[in-house]
Amino acid sequence: DPTAPQGTRAGEGGELHQTVDDGGARMTTQQGIPVADDQNTLRQGARGPALMEDFHFREKIFHFDHERIPERVVHARGYGAHGFFEAYEDLSDLTCAHALTHPGERIPAFVRFSTVAGNKGSADLARDVRGFAVKLYTAEGNWDIVGNNIPVFFIQDAMKFPDLIHAAKQEPDRGFPQAQTAHDNFWDFISWMPEAMNMVMWTMSDRAIPRSFRFMEGFGVHTFRLVTAEGKSSFVKFHWKPKQGLQSVTWPEAVTINGADPDFHRRDLWDAINSGDFPEWELGIQVFDEEVAEGFPFDILDATKLIPEELVPVRRVGRLVLDRMVDNFFAETEQVAFHTGNVPPGVDFSDDPLLQGRNFSYLDTQISRLGGPNFTHLPINAPKCPFHSFQQDGHMAMTNPKGRANYEPNGWGSKAGGPREDPERGFRSHPAEAQGPRRRARSETFADHYSQARQFYVSQTEVERRHMADALVFELSKVETPQIRTRLLAHLRNVHEDLASAVGEGLGMDLPDPAPAARETLTDLPSSSALSILKNG
Ligand code: HEM
Repeated sequence: DPTAPQGTRAGEGGELHQTVDDGGARMTTQQGIPVADDQNTLRQGARGPALMEDFHFREKIFHFDHERIPERVVHARGYGAHGFFEAYEDLSDLTCAHALTHPGERIPAFVRFSTVAGNKGSADLARDVRGFAVKLYTAEGNWDIVGNNIPVFFIQDAMKFPDLIHAAKQEPDRGFPQAQTAHDNFWDFISWMPEAMNMVMWTMSDRAIPRSFRFMEGFGVHTFRLVTAEGKSSFVKFHWKPKQGLQSVTWPEAVTINGADPDFHRRDLWDAINSGDFPEWELGIQVFDEEVAEGFPFDILDATKLIPEELVPVRRVGRLVLDRMVDNFFAETEQVAFHTGNVPPGVDFSDDPLLQGRNFSYLDTQISRLGGPNFTHLPINAPKCPFHSFQQDGHMAMTNPKGRANYEPNGWGSKAGGPREDPERGFRSHPAEAQGPRRRARSETFADHYSQARQFYVSQTEVERRHMADALVFELSKVETPQIRTRLLAHLRNVHEDLASAVGEGLGMDLPDPAPAARETLTDLPSSSALSILKNG
């Protein structure tokens, strides 16, 4: 029916749908006024001037002028898809989270993959970390696992995040590089941050140039908690294991692909899903308790460390399938807002200082990126379970509650009084104890920066080690300041002499003395069976 309104109001929530395939529906302005001429501005006489009363032109240009929103301050370039998660088993012995206790129930999911450093228009195959952000629309609210494809991070404390990102992104005077890490500011910063060495090994490895999003792992990185209905808490690390396997490309391949098709990763996901080849990942969990945590030669609150799978095996507990591309890239992929703080009952945080900082940062940044506090009203961000809060007003408020009550407690009774707390099923923070004086100094348990970097290097095959050395030579050869290279080589000597020699040779440099290591060995932490496994391989 060409006279039918193009935007169709669906449901009581007043949600508006507008599609381009409404079959020749009549064009209107945003106010619904039918449009007769969309080709010409209104003018006086045959050749102008244009008239200000042309409300259709005014609306069209006004809207176009405001199409852009700020790109994400990190992970600006991303690509998303819909799908579902289903648990394999009931994990009630570990958590009361609905998503992990209802095997076979399909929970809608949205995933956004991204690069970190590059701007929105940068190329897909940069040597970079990849974001792997998952939103599960569970029956008890949205659960976001905002992870990366590398299990460790560059820094231990959120205080350093702005510095890390400033150093990694384009340099402020020249506005480049847009996508890659090969520049003085990045390597200068890294050379002062021995805690970054483990992650540097991963980013110089083949992991940092995945063949496609479909062939990457995902990691929650931080230690989280799982909590049962009875309040029993365990520590947990989250993993996504790709059923497709793990594949990367070499640097020369990446450079060629970037030149030929900078959208290669986007196109790959689009093609796979649209041809019915749905990528799938298994959710893995590493679960351990306080006692095991204390036996590790590193701190489980230190995000620059992983927990070796030999020490705590990964248990596969569910699967994530991506089976539908978005209808609209901007509405969904650009406007989706992930937040580490979005956890349902049964999942909780650890005291990892990086995680704690993130829990503050995401909401804060999204207020400016998405134009105010009401971005949960956008369909991609709204929960798919019933939701009732007294939050109201603000720019673009679209789901203000009806009725009189907008506060509680109130005496308006169970019908008119609005939502009530649920002491039984509501989210309760795990009552972990904390003590000690206020201090900024980092714990001594965060001080070993090289052991896991070395472990990662030696775990690689001969070919992979050569790729790492080549990557370091390439990257550092782009660095113009000799002292930065020297400082890096000094760190590499603490990682592995073979790596340091290969890189030194590639750069034509003599090796400096090793960097003073804050604590290089594992000896001054309590010994345990876990520790001895790690020490003896
Ligand atoms: C995005 C902050 C560490 C994964 C972002 C954004 C901010 C941010 C401000 C942009 C969000 C938006 O505009 O919607 C931080 C801070 C960190 C930190 C302050 C450390 C203190 C990490 C770590 C990981 C990570 C360790 C991985 C485990 C992501 C991902 C995105 C993201 C995947 C993109 C989300 C999307 O696809 O929309 N982060 N981040 N971040 N961050 Fe972090």
